[in-house]
Amino acid sequence: MDFIWGTMLMAGTSVVMIVYNWRLALVVLCVVPLLFGVSVFFRKRILRTSRLVRKTNSKLTASYNEGIVGVRTSKVFVREAENLGDFDRLADEMRSHSIQNAVLSAVYLPLVLTLASVAIALSLAWGGHQVAVYGLWVGEVVMFMYYAQLFFQPVQEMSAWFAELQMAQASAERVLSLVEAVPDVRDTEDVAKRLRETGEDGHPDRMDHIEFEKVGFRYRTGPTILDGFSLSVDPGQIIALVGATGGGKSTLVNLLCRFYEPTEGRILIDGIAYRDRSLLWLQSNLGIVLQQPHLFSGTIGENIRYGKLDAAQEEIEDAAELAGAHDFIAELENGYDTFVGEGGNQLSLG
Ligand SMILES: Nc1ncnc2c1ncn2[C@@H]1O[C@H](COP(=O)(O)OP(=O)(O)O)[C@@H](O)[C@H]1O
Ligand SMILES: [Mg+2]
Repeated sequence: MDFIWGTMLMAGTSVVMIVYNWRLALVVLCVVPLLFGVSVFFRKRILRTSRLVRKTNSKLTASYNEGIVGVRTSKVFVREAENLGDFDRLADEMRSHSIQNAVLSAVYLPLVLTLASVAIALSLAWGGHQVAVYGLWVGEVVMFMYYAQLFFQPVQEMSAWFAELQMAQASAERVLSLVEAVPDVRDTEDVAKRLRETGEDGHPDRMDHIEFEKVGFRYRTGPTILDGFSLSVDPGQIIALVGATGGGKSTLVNLLCRFYEPTEGRILIDGIAYRDRSLLWLQSNLGIVLQQPHLFSGTIGENIRYGKLDAAQEEIEDAAELAGAHDFIAELENGYDTFVGEGGNQLSLG
């Protein structure tokens, strides 16, 4: 609103000034390119420091968060002093960027005000000269000074939120870069089309036979992890993968769940390459217990229900029974309604 109103006011006053006395109008308007130049100069720098402030701020919050989550480890290894040092360094960085940003914003507004005053002063000087030498009307000079003031009013108002706008842009860039990130692993065009048209991916809703067919894999960085790996899994079969740390066992699970896709070869489910099926179908049909279990803040019951929101209470208790957890849960004062705390920190994870 301010911007539209401001531009219209500036355009209107310029037209009136030019029509009335174009020489005097040019004297007033000659600072406009300068004003433009100053704004471009400051915009670049304020935006740059705003980006640094946002970036350092997220590093600082991450460090703060890690400090709290990893407090036991830090204490055991007597790392308090080092952690504090790291935090201090980040806080110093944050302060220096913030001050830079604040100084730039603080210099910009007075500079704009000065330029506007210079323009008004120029119109007085030039107009006064014309009054003295060419007998220009004093009233006309006063009118011009009034118009010049009117012309710079929106400029001043806009420059007041100019710096804030740069900070908002820096923040928006960070948020949007996350919101607009496209996942590497997503349904193929064909599958997405079938899902849109029929609501299904066009294959039977069964998962019996799993086959790794000459699967090769490497993460985006680093060496080849799997090379020509083949495995055929029949229904009901129990398989244990045993090997050294870093051998690629978890990677196999990542591939099966399609958190990553093979860089060579294929994974087939009942003879159909899993890239030809929907991610939703695949992941709904797999149950995995991760290396690092995560409990969400809420009750024990809600955490067990996490994968099947409409599960009845008996189903939850059956599941707990199967996992050998029912007895200890039943002994808790609030049973399945016991709050586990954020990250499950009020509960034995085991
Ligand atoms: N996200 C990742 N990006 C890059 N390399 C990874 C990633 N995850 C694991 N790795 C590397 O892949 C190799 C196999 O890891 P992993 O499958 O976790 O081994 P295991 O579970 O058998 O101990 C390791 O060398 C590990 O450093
Ligand atoms: Mg592992």
